[in-house]
Amino acid sequence: MDDRELYRMAKKAMGYSFSPFSRFKVGAALLAKDGRVFTGCNVENSSYPAAICAERTACVKAVSEGVTEFDTIAVVSQEGAVTPCGICRQFLYEFAPDLRVVWGSDEDHLTVTKLSALLPEGFRLER
Ligand code: THU
Repeated sequence: MDDRELYRMAKKAMGYSFSPFSRFKVGAALLAKDGRVFTGCNVENSSYPAAICAERTACVKAVSEGVTEFDTIAVVSQEGAVTPCGICRQFLYEFAPDLRVVWGSDEDHLTVTKLSALLPEGFRLER
């Protein structure tokens, strides 16, 4: 699974975005260390704060299936490049401070940024 393919999977997941309120579609594909990929899209709600981002959708799908070790996440929006919001950075940091974040305007222009660079000195309890 290379970064371009993961990005393509994120793009496909973006197609399932339920975002009638913001009209901003986002997709994510989270590559676990065991090689499995969990995709997600943003899912909004009439109760606006109940919305969940694409990245957390993917992460919750994985964790709820017993997978908690991650290597890379690819993220894409309908506008192209997007990076995870602050809540998603914190949410993912819990599981994978060294996560690779793949993002960009298209699969030929991808940037890889470590989650620890997007969330410097991140908060995480010892467990
Ligand atoms: N959104 C994501 O899904 N991921 C991000 O990284 C940025 C924001 C969603 C949340 C909301 O449904 C819409 O994009 C507009 O903020």
